[in-house]
Amino acid sequence: MTIEGKFYGIGVGPGDPQLITVKAVEVLKQVDVVAVPKSRMDRESVAWEIAKGHCPSDIQLMELEMPMTSDEAILQVAWRNAATQILYALHSGKSVAFLTLGDPSFYSTYTYLLNLLKEELPSEQIETVPGIMAMAAAAAKVNQPLATGDEPLLVLPGIEGVDKYPEIPNLVVMKVSRNLPEVLKDLHESGGKAVLATRVGQAGEEIRELTEQEEAGKVDYLSLVLINRSV
Ligand SMILES: C[S@@+](CC[C@H](N)C(=O)[O-])C[C@H]1O[C@@H](n2cnc3c(N)ncnc32)[C@H](O)[C@@H]1O
Repeated sequence: MTIEGKFYGIGVGPGDPQLITVKAVEVLKQVDVVAVPKSRMDRESVAWEIAKGHCPSDIQLMELEMPMTSDEAILQVAWRNAATQILYALHSGKSVAFLTLGDPSFYSTYTYLLNLLKEELPSEQIETVPGIMAMAAAAAKVNQPLATGDEPLLVLPGIEGVDKYPEIPNLVVMKVSRNLPEVLKDLHESGGKAVLATRVGQAGEEIRELTEQEEAGKVDYLSLVLINRSV
């Protein structure tokens, strides 16, 4: 069967509706359907909050339930359902923009969807539009570089110990709600500077330097830590 509509994976940036690219806005203005992942159907989508001001008021919304779980079986079902709904719209000749927070190629569940759609669509019918990553927005907020000159930068997904890489001067810990105690232990042992950035560009934004004496309390899922050991 010929599929006429085009699929777009849109990075909407970290939170501030002004930190979305001109290209993403152009796509949002001309697509037929905007697909919005939601962790629960009764919750607002952060990605939609960012994008909605850039979309025509009568845009067709496709809400897709994506449970916050690491259970592969549950995720597989959710992504298959999402792919089926999107393919149905594309088969009807509609173009679809799927929204994803930050950049689509960076620790994004968009990849699951993309892999499923790649099995069904020719590559010219899929376009991924990059977005500003949360770590770039966090670094900008504190007017600090992520890395300079010949320095390496290591990005960790919040499961591995940051102490495994004592020689790396710059680290970013994503999903830090899972391992803040380790980050604090490393900070205590290696010194340096660590900035905890929560909900950058969103309501409830909080950005502060961590202290060595800090108690590891509960941290919002949308948090990351920027570490600079060379200060
Ligand atoms: C699944 S990853 C998505 C990353 C996203 N694709 C990006 O380019 O930044 C989710 C993690 O990104 C980070 N994150 C996303 N948005 C954030 C924000 N606005 N403020 C702080 N951290 C954020 C947090 O570490 C969160 O646990």
